[in-house]
Amino acid sequence: MRSSRPLSIETRIKVILTAIAIGLTGLTVGTALTQGFFERTGEARLLLETAKSAASGLSAAQVEPLLMKLGPFWKEAPPGVPAETVHSSDGKVWRFTLDRSRIWSALVHRQRYVLVAGLIGLLVAVELAVFLAYSLTRPMKILAWGCEQMRSGRWVRLPTLSRTPYELEALNEAFNGMVEDLKRWQDFQKQAARVERLAALGSVAAAVAHEVKNPLASMRIHLDLLQGRLSAGEKESAAILGTELDRLNQTVSQLLSYARPRTPLFGPVDARELLAWIASMTATPCRLAGVQQFWGVEEGCPFLWGDEQQLKQVMLNLVLNAVGAQPDGGSVRLEARGEGRNVSIRVSDTGPGIPPELLERIFDPFFTTRPEGTGLGLSIVHRIVEGHGGRVNVETSPQGTVFSLLLPTAPPDKKES
Ligand SMILES: Nc1ncnc2c1ncn2[C@@H]1O[C@H](COP(=O)(O)OP(=O)(O)O)[C@@H](O)[C@H]1O
Ligand SMILES: [Mg+2]
Repeated sequence: MRSSRPLSIETRIKVILTAIAIGLTGLTVGTALTQGFFERTGEARLLLETAKSAASGLSAAQVEPLLMKLGPFWKEAPPGVPAETVHSSDGKVWRFTLDRSRIWSALVHRQRYVLVAGLIGLLVAVELAVFLAYSLTRPMKILAWGCEQMRSGRWVRLPTLSRTPYELEALNEAFNGMVEDLKRWQDFQKQAARVERLAALGSVAAAVAHEVKNPLASMRIHLDLLQGRLSAGEKESAAILGTELDRLNQTVSQLLSYARPRTPLFGPVDARELLAWIASMTATPCRLAGVQQFWGVEEGCPFLWGDEQQLKQVMLNLVLNAVGAQPDGGSVRLEARGEGRNVSIRVSDTGPGIPPELLERIFDPFFTTRPEGTGLGLSIVHRIVEGHGGRVNVETSPQGTVFSLLLPTAPPDKKES
C-alpha cells in the first residue's frame, strides 16, 4: 500500500477558497451572459414575428426588403433543419433559423468588460486565499515547531503573533503557560530531590557526629591532664594534637548544627545591624587575605523577619566563602535593600567564579573544592533561607560571584493579609 501524506490544512484552505472564487465568478459571468442571450433571442423573435405578420399581406418582391431588416441574428435555414417560416401572399416561403454562435460572439464582445472584471476578481480571490491560508496556518506551524523543540529538551517560548485569530492566540498562550508550568514543576522536583538528599545525609551525619563528639571530648580532657607531666619537647607535640582535636571538634559541631538545627526564634532583624556585625566579624580574615570590604544598606530598608542568629550564620558562611575564593586579594561587597515585601541582600566578590558544571552541586552537603572545606556552609545557608520562606540565587562568571538572598519582612500569615 502506498502511504501518502494527507493534504495540509494550508492546501485544503487554498483549494476550497479558490474553488469558491471560481464558482462565484463563473456564476456571475454566466448569469450575465445567459441573461443577455435570452434578451437577444427575444428581440430577434419579436422582429421575426413582426415580419411574419407584415409579410402575409405582401407580395414576394415587397417582402424581400422587409426581411433585410431582420437583423444579424437570423440566417437562412439549410434544408432539413427545424426553422421559422415567413410566407408572402403570393405563396413564397422563407426559412430562417437563429444564428446562435453570432449571438454569443456579439454578447461576449459586448460584455468583455464584465469578463475582464471577473478574471481580475478571480485572481484577487486566489491571492486572498493564499494569504488567508498562510496567516491561519502560520501559528499552527509555530506551535508544531515549539512542540518539536520541547520534545528535544529545549525550553522555548512562542512569540506573540500580531493579527492572529483569537483562538490561535489562546492556543499560543496555553502552550507558553504549559511550558512555564512544566519548568516550575521541574524546578520543584529538583528542589524536592535536594531536600530528600539533605534529610538522608543529615540523619547519617547526625549519628556519626554524635558518636565522634564524646570520644573527642574525652581525648581533649585527657590531653589536658597529660600536659602537666610532659617534657618541653613533648608539650609542643601535645599542643599540635590539641589544636587538631579542637579543629575536629569544630567540624563535628558544625555537622551537628547542620543535622540538628535548633528551633529558630523569629523576630524583626535590622539589616543594617546584621551587615555591620558581619563586616566587623570578617574584618580580620579580609585583611589577612588582602580583600577589601564594602558594605551599604539602602536608606529606609525595612526590617527582616527572621532568626538573628541563623541569619548571622548565613552571612558569615557567604562572606567567608567569598574571602576563601580570593586568596590573592580582591573585594567583597555587602548590600541590602528593600524589594517589595522582601529584603534583598547581596554578597558579591571579585573571585574566579564557580565553573558551570559545579554550580548544580554547591548547595549539596559535603560538596567542597577546598582542601580545608567541610562542604556544609552553603547547604546550611540554603536550609536556613528556605526555613525563612526566602530564596537564594547565584550569579557567577570568571569576574566574580554574587549570592543574592531574598528574605521576607513579615511572617508568612501576616504577609498574606
Ligand atoms: N564566592 C564563591 N566563589 C567561588 N566559589 C564558591 C564561592 N562560594 C562557594 N563556592 C564553591 O562552593 C563550594 C561549597 O561551599 P560551601 O558549602 O561553603 O563549602 P566549603 O566552603 O566548606 O567548601 C566551595 O567549595 C566552592 O567551590
Ligand atoms: Mg564555606
